Amino acid sequence: MWRWFPGSYSGVYGRRAAAAIISLPGDCMGTSATQRFHDKVVLITGASSGIGEELALQLARAGARLALAARRTERLEQLQRKIRDSGAIEPLIMTCDVTSDEGPAGAVAEIVAHWGRLDIVFANAGFGVVGSFAKLTLADYRRQFETNVFGVLRTLQAALPQISRSHGQMVILGSVAGWTASPGASPYAMSKFAIRALANSITPELALLGVRVTLISPGFVESNIRRVDNQGKLHADAAEPIPRWLVMSRRRAVRYMLRAVARGKREVIITRHGKLFVWLERFAPWVLRIAARQLAASRGGYRTEPGTG
Ligand SMILES: NC(=O)c1ccc[n+]([C@@H]2O[C@H](COP(=O)([O-])OP(=O)(O)OC[C@H]3O[C@@H](n4cnc5c(N)ncnc54)[C@H](OP(=O)(O)O)[C@@H]3O)[C@@H](O)[C@H]2O)c1
Repeated sequence: MWRWFPGSYSGVYGRRAAAAIISLPGDCMGTSATQRFHDKVVLITGASSGIGEELALQLARAGARLALAARRTERLEQLQRKIRDSGAIEPLIMTCDVTSDEGPAGAVAEIVAHWGRLDIVFANAGFGVVGSFAKLTLADYRRQFETNVFGVLRTLQAALPQISRSHGQMVILGSVAGWTASPGASPYAMSKFAIRALANSITPELALLGVRVTLISPGFVESNIRRVDNQGKLHADAAEPIPRWLVMSRRRAVRYMLRAVARGKREVIITRHGKLFVWLERFAPWVLRIAARQLAASRGGYRTEPGTG
């Protein structure tokens, strides 16, 4: 049923090929992984910055036919130029707000008109609403869910008819915050818990249609997410609040992500600290509860909203 990743773990090359992919150095997507994206039609939401932008650059290098969606068209135009000038296939760009029903549906219609099909979708667009529960309003939670949860749902539902026709793959950008909820970030954590639940629920359902689902749960990765405020406004000059040594470069993080996607993994946790947090949540949650109490009492959360102090 699963046709176009023959080297995936259960594919015809079997365990030895999978082991070869696993043993590749961390900074390398790997030739076999690269080959699996060649000529595939790929939609990336939130392609104008951070992880989405890096996904576009690495997938373009791997020979994918890209459809890049976001609200900031000028950023997409720059990225389109960069990819075209590199000699890769020119991507299709589209202005698309995932909070509008017409956004993802229109994007998929445009892709089909242009490329004739859709093989992989990355539901990547997202941002973070942070702050203490006592200060946040219902509107803050709704705004967070409208992008991070309903935006993902709109994207996947719009893509499903095409992805099931091509026996393709849906990739959802979750977070380690979808495993372990820290104080001062309840809207974001709730949204990522919700989409992890979505991924777990739909994975076996969509397998019946020949569609794979991969959930990517990153820890801290270099991007602009911590420079965007609770209204979704970018504060480009804001400092990265997370210590540098804890933030994985987006190039490296995206290579890990694409390797996992190429292998058709159900979920991948990115970054060492991310893996540690997930392990603690599963096997020693009391450690995280103590740390959370201390964090809440000292700073309120691991970061504050940019532009507020
Ligand atoms: N970086 C991390 O440490 C980290 C960790 C865990 C999970 N993640 C997840 O990774 C994903 C990508 O985030 P990032 O870190 O790359 O952040 P980023 O640099 O701020 O990029 C976010 C992207 O989402 C797009 N976006 C936001 N709202 C949108 C909307 N309503 N409609 C369409 N596009 C929208 C933005 O484009 P426009 O503003 O142009 O629309 C931008 O391209 C998110 O889902 C995030 O939760 C990131």
